[in-house]
Formats: sequence, C-alpha cells, structure tokens
Amino acid sequence: MTTLKPLQKWSNLSSANRQSSPPDDSLRDLKYGRCMSFFVAGNWKTHLLSDEANTLIQQLLDQCNQDGVAVFPPALYVPQVSDQLRDSAIGFGVQDISESGFGATTGDLCAQQVAEFGCQYALVGHSERRQRQQESSQWVAEKALAAVTAGLVPIVCVGETLEEREAGNDVATVMEQLEPVLNLVPVDSTLMVAYEPVWAIGTGKTASADQAQAMHSEIRARLSQIGMQQTKILYGGSVKAANAAELAQCPDVYGALVGGAALQIDEFAAIVAAFQERH
Ligand code: PGA
Repeated sequence: MTTLKPLQKWSNLSSANRQSSPPDDSLRDLKYGRCMSFFVAGNWKTHLLSDEANTLIQQLLDQCNQDGVAVFPPALYVPQVSDQLRDSAIGFGVQDISESGFGATTGDLCAQQVAEFGCQYALVGHSERRQRQQESSQWVAEKALAAVTAGLVPIVCVGETLEEREAGNDVATVMEQLEPVLNLVPVDSTLMVAYEPVWAIGTGKTASADQAQAMHSEIRARLSQIGMQQTKILYGGSVKAANAAELAQCPDVYGALVGGAALQIDEFAAIVAAFQERH
C-alpha cells in the first residue's frame, strides 16, 4: 500500500527550511520551499507501463535528482511515482485536471485529490487536449483556477498551429489562449506558461531559438503588463539534447516541457544539463 506524500506548502514550512525571499529569477518550489533557477519537465503522456515507469524514475533519481526537474506521468502512476520520489528533489504533477472540484464528473481528475497525492503541478490546456477534447481557452482558464485553488502550480500550455503561424496570426492566437487565464486567476498566483507551437510537438521540428524567444518575449510583455513579472515561461515542442543549449540561451526561455525525449534518460539528462549550465 502506497503511503501518500502530503503536500507541503511554503507557508507551512518551518522558518529554518525557508529562504527569506526567493531571488528574482527563481520559482518557489512548493515541495520543499527551495528555489529553482530553471524548470525542465518530462511529459510522459500515455507512454510506458508501470514497470517501465519505475525504471525511468530510478534513472532520473540516479542522474537528475535536482531542483527544477519534474515529471508528468500518466495519472494512474502518480501513487508509485510519489512513493519513489519521496525525499528526492524531483517534482511531479498530472497532465490535466478538472475545472470542477469534488462531484459528479465521471472520469475527471479532481484538483484536491491530485494535491492529496503530493503532486505540485498540473498541466492545463495541452494542445493534444485542446484538439482531441475540444477544450476551449475559457475551460483551460477554469482548470488553471482549480489548480491554483488546490495549491497546485498550473502550467498553462499555449501555442499556434502551422496555419495560424503562416497566416501571421501566431501571436494573436497565443494571446487569445492566454487572456482568459489572466482574467481568471489572481495576479499573485504561482503559475507557469508553456509555449508549445503545435507544429513542433512530436514532429521533430523545433522552433528556432529566435522564434521561441520572439514569442516568449510577447508573452513576457503581456504578463508584465498585468503585474505577473515573476511568471516563468517554458518552451515545448521537440526539445532534445541537440537543441536544448540553443533554447536555453534565450533570455525569456526559463525551461522546457519535454515529450518524446523525456522517455530516454540520456536525452532528458542532457536537456536538464543544458538549462542548468545557463545559470
Ligand atoms: P515533444 O512533446 O517534445 O514530443 O514534441 C512536447 C509536449 O507535447 O509537451
């Protein structure tokens, strides 16, 4: 029987375990109250059987046990991942949550239940869900609010399709996806934004560092305009060892949301190292 890891909040930590105030370029880690200077997360999607997940977690513990690293396993594996990552620096979260709390929403993942299992993060609005489950940006915003309310850090995924980019609507699309979130969550919420151009996800085509930085800088400007200067922005879409260093050099790219390459420990560890070296 798996023992649940309680969610530790910054405010609940003893003062000895808290730093007096996080440095500017850091994100407070809810797990231990530590400060991170980058964030590299593996989105496992619906890959792996449970034995394989165990093996990958063991490899991560051996090679990437450090602040700023996190995994998003299939929700079914959260209890075993929680158990294995106990006392480690590696964070974890779920790939989606429901906008509603407890209640009659068959098949949904309730944010409070997710938090009870020790998760610190929740992806919301991944393009695969926007497309497959037809999630609207308003719905995604409500999911982000549910996460924040339950003490989780939502990672709000946004990104344009190739058609939208080619029509010159890439920035407008991303802003339209982001705006309902900014309207709904309190301005002092801890959240992250992941810019993931749809045309780069799982295709092997990564945005160039210039393309990534250009969009990140638009997002940064909008966040700053409403007082969310501290909100971190990740890049996602075919991030791999070969392109991580270039992306990590972009001033507004704080970290990476990694899909396929997160399933191979050598690739993932190299991506973590690239972002770590930047700092
Ligand atoms: P990818 O996926 O790295 O396989 O492109 C990224 C994501 O979907 O978050």
